[in-house]
Amino acid sequence: MAQPQTLRRVQRSTRGKRIALVVGGTLLTLFLALQGVALALPRTNPPVVAEPAWDSPQTRELFMRACGDCHSNQTNWRWYTYVAPAAFLAYRDVIEGRQKCNVSEWGSGGEAKCDESVEQIREGKMPPWFYLPLHPEANLSAQEKDQLIRGLLATFGEGGGERERRGEPGTRPGEDESGEEGARTSPLALRLA
Ligand code: HEC
Repeated sequence: MAQPQTLRRVQRSTRGKRIALVVGGTLLTLFLALQGVALALPRTNPPVVAEPAWDSPQTRELFMRACGDCHSNQTNWRWYTYVAPAAFLAYRDVIEGRQKCNVSEWGSGGEAKCDESVEQIREGKMPPWFYLPLHPEANLSAQEKDQLIRGLLATFGEGGGERERRGEPGTRPGEDESGEEGARTSPLALRLA
């Protein structure tokens, strides 16, 4: 026969376990639901339509290394972009980043804000700080930053991508999808032209 005190202790501990189980189960269900949504996100890399007329392959290389994940159609969707909640943040960054400046859709709207790149780099706003711990290769040295800035000034110009509106096809082999660039120009770009 258990003493009343022991009995109370046992009851308390089973209640504790039940609460832990309910809380844990709820959290797990919530995570699984979010994870389901995260997996369903359309992590796409649309075709490269046209790239700017890069002043040198090094400028392109530096840009793709530090900025390309969010500002091109050649995003490296790494494993964590499949895991909630990081998936949502990464997905939003790529969508918003491409909207502002997309070097894979040059001449059809992608160039919109690219000319502000130098300013963004100089002010240390881009690449975003939270991106760097997971992407040390994007953490450019002072010298690389200088080189990128000089290259971007030569490529985008100070005053905007207007000059490059015709859009040069990609310079690398395998980017020949850019052939039909005229057909793919969006109605918005036509209106702006
Ligand atoms: C992790 C994704 C990510 C990376 C990497 C990144 N950007 Fe961005 N970028 C964004 C997002 C999201 C926005 C839109 C929101 C904002 O302005 O903060 C943006 C906005 C911009 C803008 C427009 C700013 C404006 O005034 O609207 C420019 C220009 C830009 N980025 C350039 C760069 C350059 C250059 C690099 C590399 C040195 C870079 N970004 C790297 C995500 C990124």
